[in-house]
Amino acid sequence: MNMITAKDLCRDFKLGDGTTFRVLNNIQIEIPEKKLAILRGPSGSGKTTLMNIIGALDMPTAGTVTFDGKNITAMSEAKREQLRRRDIGFIFQSVSLIPIMTAYENVEFALRMGGGKMSKAETKARVTECLSMVGLAGRMNHMPQELSGGEQQRVAIARAIAHRPKVIFADEPTAELDSLTAKAVVQIFKKLVEQEQVTIIMTTHDVGLMDMADVVYMLEDGEIVKNG
Ligand SMILES: Nc1ncnc2c1ncn2[C@@H]1O[C@H](COP(=O)(O)OP(=O)(O)OP(=O)(O)O)[C@@H](O)[C@H]1O
Ligand SMILES: [Mg+2]
Repeated sequence: MNMITAKDLCRDFKLGDGTTFRVLNNIQIEIPEKKLAILRGPSGSGKTTLMNIIGALDMPTAGTVTFDGKNITAMSEAKREQLRRRDIGFIFQSVSLIPIMTAYENVEFALRMGGGKMSKAETKARVTECLSMVGLAGRMNHMPQELSGGEQQRVAIARAIAHRPKVIFADEPTAELDSLTAKAVVQIFKKLVEQEQVTIIMTTHDVGLMDMADVVYMLEDGEIVKNG
């Protein structure tokens, strides 16, 4: 089954001088469920733009996106917001943990925002489980500034997965990490795909990470040029 299918996607931006600039040109993409997918391509090729559209953050100028069987390009903004909150987790290049909360509290806060009704005990168990899955059982009470860059990114991963989303979108999650730490983060993604049955889509420039993915899509000048 495909988790996400995009058909004939175009995204145009209006520039300040009144002209139109086409960033995505007739994209076709099928992303299988419960896999780790990598979206690669040079800077400016449209990776973030595409990810924002299939992640229901942005609307295409033309084309449709089907997410878990639902046409999200035909949904109301309220429905899209609900889908983002319940079914999607986002991870960004620059980790944005809340600086006055511990690792534990950061994940707990996100889990509460995720919407599901959970008892105190269930919440505690899930937060602990997620931090353990990313190898941070021993760092739960550290503040963000008391964690290394790689550890902070792992808290962000625990935070993204806690509410059991169907899909995690990670935009250049390893760009600020050294190559060994970057590999460790992708290893965690692979583990989460197995254990949590989640679909993960990440963008990266790092060619050293490609063979860790189940599927790689290559974007060039707003078009998918390679798929495999
Ligand atoms: N709001 C906007 N208005 C006009 N052009 C935009 C806008 N957002 C993005 N673009 C253009 O779209 C192109 C693709 O941008 P995008 O951020 O998707 O690239 P990317 O592949 O993620 O690059 P990077 O690897 O540097 O993050 C760029 O050339 C950029 O100038
Ligand atoms: Mg980008």
